[in-house]
Amino acid sequence: MRAGRKQIGILTAGGDCPGLNAVIRGAVKAADRLGCDTVGFRRGFEGLVDPVTFMPLDTDNTFGIIDRGGTILGSTNQGRFNARIGVDERLEIDPELIDAVKQTVSSLGLDGLICIGGDGSLTVAQQFHEHGIPVVGVPKTIDNDISATAFSFGFDSAVACATDAMDRLHTTAVSHERIMVLEVMGRHTGWIALHAGIAGAASVILIPEIRWTWENVCQKILERDTSGKRFSLVVVAEGAELPGGGVVTRQETGAHEQVKLGGIGPVVAKELEQRLQRETRVVILGHLQRGGPPTVFDRALATQFGAHAMRLVIEERFGQMVAYDPPEIHAVPILDAIDRVKQVEPDSGGVMAARTLGVSFGEYPPGTSPLMLSLTERAGRDAIPVEQDA
Ligand code: F6P
Repeated sequence: MRAGRKQIGILTAGGDCPGLNAVIRGAVKAADRLGCDTVGFRRGFEGLVDPVTFMPLDTDNTFGIIDRGGTILGSTNQGRFNARIGVDERLEIDPELIDAVKQTVSSLGLDGLICIGGDGSLTVAQQFHEHGIPVVGVPKTIDNDISATAFSFGFDSAVACATDAMDRLHTTAVSHERIMVLEVMGRHTGWIALHAGIAGAASVILIPEIRWTWENVCQKILERDTSGKRFSLVVVAEGAELPGGGVVTRQETGAHEQVKLGGIGPVVAKELEQRLQRETRVVILGHLQRGGPPTVFDRALATQFGAHAMRLVIEERFGQMVAYDPPEIHAVPILDAIDRVKQVEPDSGGVMAARTLGVSFGEYPPGTSPLMLSLTERAGRDAIPVEQDA
C-alpha cells in the first residue's frame, strides 16, 4: 500500500459462483488506473476479523484470472456473519463483530470495502452500512434471486451448465424412450429451471412459483407419447413444492440456519415411474452449476460490475450496489436489492413463451393463469427430508 493513495478492501462472501475472479480483476484494474490500492480479505467476512487475513491485490497477482472459476480470495457461507434466515427474516450481527470490523477498517486505513455476495451477504453489507462502515455491494448468485438487478453474474454460467446437461440427457432419452428428470439449483426461485428448461427443450418445467399436480405432469408426458415422442425431459427446481405441500431437503438444519434444499428430483422421478409405468432416470446437477469458468456473458458482466463498484467506492457512494439494467449498469441502494426475493412471475414473458411452445408447468388447470405461492406462505410449510432410497 502506498501513502497518499486510497486503500480499498474487497471480499467474496457466501456460496461461490463463476465470475467472482472476473469482478476482483475488474475492480483491481480499475483501482490501479484510478490511483488506488486494493487489499483482498480471505474467506469472506471472516477475513475482516480475528484473525484478520488479507492479501494486497495488484494487476500482477490478479493477472489471467478473468476466466477462472471459484474465488482467489476464498469464501465462507454464513459462518459468524449470518444476517438472514429463510426468505425474509433478518438477524442482527453480533455488535462485537461489527466493532471488530470497524477496528480492521480503521487500522488498515481503508477508504471503502467492496462486498461481492448474494442476498444473505448483501444483508450483512447493509448492516455494515447502517453502522457507518463504508461499503459497496456487487450482486452475485447463480440463483438470480436478487432484486433490483436484471441479472446477477453466475446465473448465465449455471444456466449454460444445466442446458448442456439437458442436451446430453436429450440424446439418451430419445435412444431409450425414457423420461429424464433433471434437478437444478435456484433455492426458492425457478430462474435456472425456467431458462435451462426453455434452452434445453424441456417438456415439463417445475418451479417454486407455480403450483403443479402429478396428474398434469403425467398428462403432458402421455400427450407426447400419443404424438409419437416417447421420451420426455422434466426439469425441476430444487425449491419446487410438492403437490401435497412441502419442499424436499437434504439435511436437517438448526433454527438459525438456511434450509438445505435438494432431493426433489428423485422424488419426482420415482412418482412418475410408478404412475406412468415408464422407465425414468434422474440427475441431480448440484455444484457442477457453481464450478468452472464463467460464460462470456458472465465474464463481461462481472468485469463491468468490478470496475463500476470501484468507481462507486471512489465517489463515496456507500450503501449502494451495482445493478444490471440492460443495457446499462447503474447503482441502486443495497436495501432495494434485499428487501424481497426476486421470483419468476408466472405470467412473465419467459413463462408465457414456454407455454406457447407447449411446455407444461404442471399447473391446474393446464394453460390457465397459475396461482403463485407467496414466499411467506412457503416459509410456513414443513420441509420434507429426502428419502434415501428414492
Ligand atoms: O445460492 C446458491 C446455491 O448454490 C443454491 O442454489 C443452493 O441451494 C445452495 O447454494 C447450495 O449451498 P451449499 O453449497 O451450502 O450446499
